[in-house]
Amino acid sequence: MLVCVPNILSGEEVAQFRGAMDRAQWEDGASTAGAAAKLKSNEQLPPNGELSRTLGERLLAALVANPAFVSAAIPLRIFPPLFNRYSVGHHFGVHVDNAVRGDPLTGARIRADLAATLFLSEPEDYDGGELIVDDVYDSHQVKLPAGHLAVYPASSLHMVAPVTRGVRVASFFWVQSMIRQDAVRDLVYDLDTAIQELAPRLGRDDADVMKLAGVYHNLIRYWGEI
Ligand code: NI
Repeated sequence: MLVCVPNILSGEEVAQFRGAMDRAQWEDGASTAGAAAKLKSNEQLPPNGELSRTLGERLLAALVANPAFVSAAIPLRIFPPLFNRYSVGHHFGVHVDNAVRGDPLTGARIRADLAATLFLSEPEDYDGGELIVDDVYDSHQVKLPAGHLAVYPASSLHMVAPVTRGVRVASFFWVQSMIRQDAVRDLVYDLDTAIQELAPRLGRDDADVMKLAGVYHNLIRYWGEI
């Protein structure tokens, strides 16, 4: 399922990211499009450049420290974040992401279970540019405040609608989850969400809350891979 995680970065952090990015050299975005290169028109920070890596490291630290992201993604490995920019007329047509991603700097490969977009522009600063993700039930149009994240199965059909005003800046990356199957991961996430809602009401040491937490951990023991 598609999950939106608020406040991965603070307003101050977004401003720092944007300041550094606005001063940087950008390149054509085709090189990271995988099989979908013909559908894509945008710009990116050079993926192996120092700025991508520096900002990517800061973003990774924020991601793994965010309980809501960890709960939704159950991450095992996260691909070094990339950064892109859509100006007027830029878009990315309907596609699914490649199953495997390799980092040219380290040779490390991950299975892309989840795709993620971290918005770095405020919604009122551009028109169009919605992330549109189809899942089994519905088509979701996503445009989040700067610093917020959308995470969804990388196997979903998805696209970025053409930008018709302003500039849409974002970071994007892939996650290999400890839980490969989307349906099982969704189930574990739903259980975790229910426990997080119950615990403040009943107390973390309530016997039923502890039982449910035990089921959660046993599901990860059974289905998780590390
Ligand atoms: Ni994609």
